[in-house]
Amino acid sequence: MKHPFSPLVLFLALLHAGHAHSKCRNVPGSAEFPTAAAWRVLNTTISGRLVLAVPSAKYCASLPGGACTDAQWTSALFRATIPGAMDQVNFEQDYDVAPPSLCFRNSTTCGQGNVPIYAVKADTVEDVQAAVKFASANNLRVVVKSSGHDYLGRSTAPNSLLIHMANLTDVVFTDAFVVGGENLGSAVTVGPGVPLRDIYQQTKAQGKIAVGGSAATVCAAGGYLQGAGHSAISPLLGLAADNALEFEIVVASGALLKVNSVSNPDLFFALRGGGAGSWGVIVSATLRTHPTFNVTSSIIELAASSNAAAAALAGVHTKHIFDLDAVRGGQYYYLESAGNNTSVLGLSTFTNTSLEQGTAILTPFLDDALAVPGVSLISKTFQQTLINDALFQTDDVVGANLVMGSRLVPTAAYQALDAPATVEKVYRELLDSGPQGILGHLVAGGQVSDNVNISSAVNPAWRTAKTHVILPYAWDDSASLAEINTLRHEFQTSHLAILEQLSGPNAGSYSNEADMFEPNWKTTFYGPNYAKLSAIKQKYDPHDLFIVTSGVGSERWDALGICTVDE
Ligand SMILES: Cc1cc2nc3c(=O)[nH]c(=O)nc-3n(C[C@H](O)[C@H](O)[C@H](O)COP(=O)(O)OP(=O)(O)OC[C@H]3O[C@@H](n4cnc5c(N)ncnc54)[C@H](O)[C@@H]3O)c2cc1C
Ligand SMILES: *[C@@H]1O[C@H](CO)[C@@H](O)[C@H](O)[C@H]1NC(C)=O
Ligand SMILES: *[C@@H]1O[C@H](CO)[C@@H](O)[C@H](O)[C@H]1NC(C)=O
Ligand SMILES: *[C@@H]1O[C@H](CO)[C@@H](O)[C@H](O)[C@H]1NC(C)=O
Ligand SMILES: *[C@@H]1O[C@H](CO)[C@@H](O)[C@H](O)[C@H]1NC(C)=O
Ligand SMILES: *[C@@H]1O[C@H](CO)[C@@H](O)[C@H](O)[C@H]1NC(C)=O
Ligand SMILES: *[C@@H]1O[C@H](CO)[C@@H](O)[C@H](O)[C@H]1NC(C)=O
Ligand SMILES: *[C@@H]1O[C@H](CO)[C@@H](O)[C@H](O)[C@H]1NC(C)=O
Ligand SMILES: *[C@@H]1O[C@H](CO)[C@@H](O)[C@H](O)[C@H]1NC(C)=O
Repeated sequence: MKHPFSPLVLFLALLHAGHAHSKCRNVPGSAEFPTAAAWRVLNTTISGRLVLAVPSAKYCASLPGGACTDAQWTSALFRATIPGAMDQVNFEQDYDVAPPSLCFRNSTTCGQGNVPIYAVKADTVEDVQAAVKFASANNLRVVVKSSGHDYLGRSTAPNSLLIHMANLTDVVFTDAFVVGGENLGSAVTVGPGVPLRDIYQQTKAQGKIAVGGSAATVCAAGGYLQGAGHSAISPLLGLAADNALEFEIVVASGALLKVNSVSNPDLFFALRGGGAGSWGVIVSATLRTHPTFNVTSSIIELAASSNAAAAALAGVHTKHIFDLDAVRGGQYYYLESAGNNTSVLGLSTFTNTSLEQGTAILTPFLDDALAVPGVSLISKTFQQTLINDALFQTDDVVGANLVMGSRLVPTAAYQALDAPATVEKVYRELLDSGPQGILGHLVAGGQVSDNVNISSAVNPAWRTAKTHVILPYAWDDSASLAEINTLRHEFQTSHLAILEQLSGPNAGSYSNEADMFEPNWKTTFYGPNYAKLSAIKQKYDPHDLFIVTSGVGSERWDALGICTVDE
């Protein structure tokens, strides 16, 4: 039989592919960028809620008095009211153009940087639909933002139209949430503008709790659930995504979809762990609620007089890392390397126990820790509080320049006989080579592992992990561009190889607290799910309206999401 493709046809096909024109979004100056009149029509459609977005520093300069106070600048609650603001202000800057486009606090000159051009301050689902349809029809770059916390800068982009979701703040409780005729029990439905602090307060009033993170202003129905959503109570109750029952989302066509285990179940799979910002605009999410409970909440601070002592302390911590397992406790532990040779290990632990039991669980660790030469106690507190109060914080301190890199460290790494020695070695090498701290989130294992058979896009690396370890990199506005670029890339260039001695070479990373320059992001963030997620993306967003850094489909686009690239 004759092969249907003659060599000539094949040659022409290749030629065509090679010369395929890259497709670009309309930006100001493009012939098809919407006219002022077209923007006015959109503005009317959305009841005058269209604004010009400006960097947060420029917004502050426009206030009466010409500046923001320090309290405002560093407040995530305040920043959530500014359409153009990111919480980590470095993401408002564009360091990658020459010259860089920057807007510093109190400076007289100001570039637009990575800040969108226009923002829709959405108030209703119809506002969102109008914005999505306008962006689709006019081939615009779109970004979606709830809080602006994103550590990969995914909620801002230059030359884009921003859909700002901070004002969708409905909270609705039910004792019987029904999906496909099945009663799934007690649940809360929240808009994307609802910060975790409000969920903790409002569930408290109902005698309930929902799985949420250690932050005041992160938005559950924004990026948190789409990434996976870890919590101090995840070892007890699973990841937040494991507790998600339903979403309502405006997809690229402008349609509002109900998404749950029976309605659009493929999209339900993707929205739970398939990565923030790649699927549409979430207008609500429903989370299972649990009866609330009291926890022993403990804060311990230990000083270590040298890097060697600090690393030995980390080794002792590892020796006791399974001590919390019997009660499925959660813990945040961070090693801060301070300038005067004194490191501080801080632990914040939550266990569903009596105060006596909770104290007893940490005592073996504390005794061993204080036996390490050079280690001393700064402070320790143990209290019994409702989990809602233990998780509640009034605000998040932001407004700095901050990036990070991370790995999910498998339980097996901590079970190895030489694990304490490995951790000591790795922490010593890290402390000596200068990341500003080492954060450990003991938010996996327990129910997170037991939920292995839930069918969702949560990176399977979560199911075998014990901790999520983060290396942060911060700088002041006075840093030079060379220093900034060194820090932005330092996780990959200097520290990942050290961390991999503990995590192993193919460990996953949590896409919400990660490095935007992760080279093998498809597997590092999504594990084996990428091909399936790509097919779901093709179905619900066939023209790639929702593209973010390291998000599904982003391999087809340049770093700014403006033009397609040859694959
Ligand atoms: C102080 C702090 C503490 C944190 N603590 C935790 C923690 O304990 N556990 C944890 O798991 N994570 C934690 N995180 C990380 C957090 O989960 C991510 O930053 C998350 O992406 C924030 O989502 P957001 O919507 O609030 O942020 P945004 O910056 O507004 O958005 C983040 C991403 O989600 C997309 N997005 C936002 N809203 C929508 C929407 N309505 N529809 C569709 N896409 C949307 C954006 O496009 C972007 O890609 C913390 C972050 C910070 C800054
Ligand atoms: C949108 O309309 C409102 C109300 O008329 C107006 O205040 C606002 O400036 C308009 N937005 C833009 C970008 O022109
Ligand atoms: C900016 O100005 C405010 C108000 O005058 C002041 O409090 C703040 O310290 C200044 N910050 C910087 C970085 O200059
Ligand atoms: C939220 O709505 C209020 C009232 O309409 C408005 O003043 C405010 O600017 C809106 N904020 C955002 C972030 O959309
Ligand atoms: C928590 O502890 C307080 C004080 O002992 C008690 O009054 C309360 O009933 C407890 N709450 C729950 C949900 O167990
Ligand atoms: C050195 O560390 C100690 C203990 O953490 C702290 O109290 C002190 O302020 C630090 N000194 C300097 C100069 O940083
Ligand atoms: C810090 O350590 C260095 C090198 O070990 C030493 O020279 C210096 O005196 C120490 N500084 C303090 C404040 O302890
Ligand atoms: C917390 O502990 C109490 C008492 O042991 C138990 O009844 C309750 O189910 C626990 N809560 C969770 C969420 O495990
Ligand atoms: C997950 O499913 C597999 C295959 O059916 C089963 O062997 C395993 O026990 C299940 N694990 C859990 C924790 O339910």
